[in-house]
Amino acid sequence: MVTSPRQQETKSTPAKATTNGRYAIGESAGCAVRAAPNVQRRARTYRVALLVNLARNAPPIHRDNAPPDLLVELDTDKNVESYAQALRQAGHEVLIQEGNAYLAPWLDEVRPDICFNTCEGFGGDSREAQVPALLEMVGARYTGPTPLAAAITHDKPTTKRILHYYGMPTPHFQVFNTPDDPLRRTLHFPLFVKPAHEGTGMGIHNESVVHNERQLRDRVAWTIEAYQQPALVETYIAGRDITCGLVGNGYDVHFFPITEVDFSGYPPELLPIYGSVQKVQLDHLYRNKCPAPLGEKLTREIRRLTHQTFLVTGCRDFARVDFRLDEHDRPFILEINALPGITPRSDLTLMAEAEGWTHGDLVRAVLDAGLKRYGM
Ligand SMILES: Nc1ncnc2c1ncn2[C@@H]1O[C@H](COP(=O)(O)OP(=O)(O)OP(=O)(O)O)[C@@H](O)[C@H]1O
Ligand SMILES: [Mg+2]
Repeated sequence: MVTSPRQQETKSTPAKATTNGRYAIGESAGCAVRAAPNVQRRARTYRVALLVNLARNAPPIHRDNAPPDLLVELDTDKNVESYAQALRQAGHEVLIQEGNAYLAPWLDEVRPDICFNTCEGFGGDSREAQVPALLEMVGARYTGPTPLAAAITHDKPTTKRILHYYGMPTPHFQVFNTPDDPLRRTLHFPLFVKPAHEGTGMGIHNESVVHNERQLRDRVAWTIEAYQQPALVETYIAGRDITCGLVGNGYDVHFFPITEVDFSGYPPELLPIYGSVQKVQLDHLYRNKCPAPLGEKLTREIRRLTHQTFLVTGCRDFARVDFRLDEHDRPFILEINALPGITPRSDLTLMAEAEGWTHGDLVRAVLDAGLKRYGM
């Protein structure tokens, strides 16, 4: 029986990570050093159900004022083929299936050994938890977060409450259910407004940075209306944009080199924030620094916070934690992506490639983490 990270919920601080992406042997019991992916291939092959949510299968949107980035979390056939190819290269039999309401009878028919879950869900405040919940219900094995971890991490305020409980640094915040909610005295302008539970920079633009009460009310009203959910208002952290990814479970994790977004390639009228326009339409202008020039101490600290966030939110197999550094290079955790993008162009892929992995290595490492967790 494999212990899930969720079962390890303690207030203890995870072991110190080294700057080379691995835990130093001897720094903490149970910390393992992960071998390079090409020498770690498993001999056994499995029947793998590749579960996907394709943008072309999204239910029609019947709203005139729907924002243009509403479907950016969903996948394309090309990306799905790249995951399938990576899994087939390891000798697995791959069966691709949409993660929708018809998934249960399909699983009953094909009986996969494990599911490789990439489903973002088509809607709802816990959309990333929907497929894991169904998989739990039918008793299927799967990669990625449980319904609980997926729901917690998909909702940024819920994640931040947990981080706050553990004394971890995250920007001060308030959830606005209406544009007229009174602003807490602890929040000072400039503030940052974003949807409470979205991803891929949805609802994040220049106007997310608000400098006065009027701008705040307007942006909160727009966010609630456009995304049909509460608005999360945070202290604006003016500084560097950092993300840190890992694969593995518990203390047996591998960190990828930390990435910093280089905003210098974008049009000057865009503020240095990593919203959906930068992530999707202007993807071709994206430049990063990987590994980010952080120095050894800050690199260790970012990795320690990444791992602690991974553990306290109950994530499994892989994750990516996003940070902003303030003007003194102090890190603030913005969120954890329990089901981070794993497309050939995603942040996680680019950071894996920066240390010589291929996209296929990354996909297989995630599956391997799941297989190992199940003792397969
Ligand atoms: N409090 C903040 N202060 C400054 N910038 C912020 C803040 N919150 C978010 N941002 C900017 O917006 C970007 C996206 O924020 P966040 O990671 O919360 O959104 P997301 O849509 O969930 O992202 P992902 O694509 O990782 O799913 C950050 O990388 C950062 O540039
Ligand atoms: Mg993010």
